[in-house]
Amino acid sequence: MKIIQITDTHLVPPGESLHTLDPAEMLRRGIAHACEHHADADLLVVTGDLCNDGDPEAYALLREILAPVRCGIRLLLGNHDARPAFREAFPDQPVTASGHVQSHLDTPHGRLLFLDSHEHGFIGGRFCEARLGWLREALAGAGDQPVTVFIHHPPVHHGLAHFEHIGLHDAPALMDCLASHGPGVRHIVFGHIHVPLSGTSPEGIAFSSGQAMSHRFITAIDEPAPCWTGGNPTYRVIQIDANGFRAYGAEAGQEVLVRAEACAGP
Ligand SMILES: [Fe+2]
Repeated sequence: MKIIQITDTHLVPPGESLHTLDPAEMLRRGIAHACEHHADADLLVVTGDLCNDGDPEAYALLREILAPVRCGIRLLLGNHDARPAFREAFPDQPVTASGHVQSHLDTPHGRLLFLDSHEHGFIGGRFCEARLGWLREALAGAGDQPVTVFIHHPPVHHGLAHFEHIGLHDAPALMDCLASHGPGVRHIVFGHIHVPLSGTSPEGIAFSSGQAMSHRFITAIDEPAPCWTGGNPTYRVIQIDANGFRAYGAEAGQEVLVRAEACAGP
């Protein structure tokens, strides 16, 4: 199964810019690249911070930019989003009985879980009892299948000073719940931090962040106020199959220097 992960698109209303970039132009270029090079993708997942201020005009713009995508789409909320405006713009995206943007998808290689860590008024994430209750049921429903988790806020220790106080505030409860799933958690995929990060939690669960589509941080682990940078639109290509889980970085607009020769081994 091939999944395109896009994260932190931070769209603003048409005509506005953000950190000197045009997030819509970045996303259009990224989507065009993904559609051209990964037309065989089964699913597109956008792991939150869809829009920068939760404006209805920005969600309408997102809908328009995603229109060429031919595979299924799951959209997750980040701290910059607004749940009411999102639900108004995307009534086709599944929600729980409590109104949270959470859903699951069963595949031949396990159950995918899409979680909602957005909480109005918080920069960090929340995972309340209603969301936990839904997760317990979703894990039970997975039976003997492993799960792969998609969420905006990292529920793990990331070690980045800028995000010290704005991680997932209920991370221990979420990780305890996930660690209790006997068939295992293949991977936790998140956004939020705007830098590439991969690791393993104390529970032995692998995790990694997507590459932010638009603006991203120059990696500065101990810097509380790091600097933004731009560059080409970036996303990830995730493959989940009998060999496990793999995530590849992808970038639109890369310059070709010279083609390498094929390696026949040994
Ligand atoms: Fe973000």
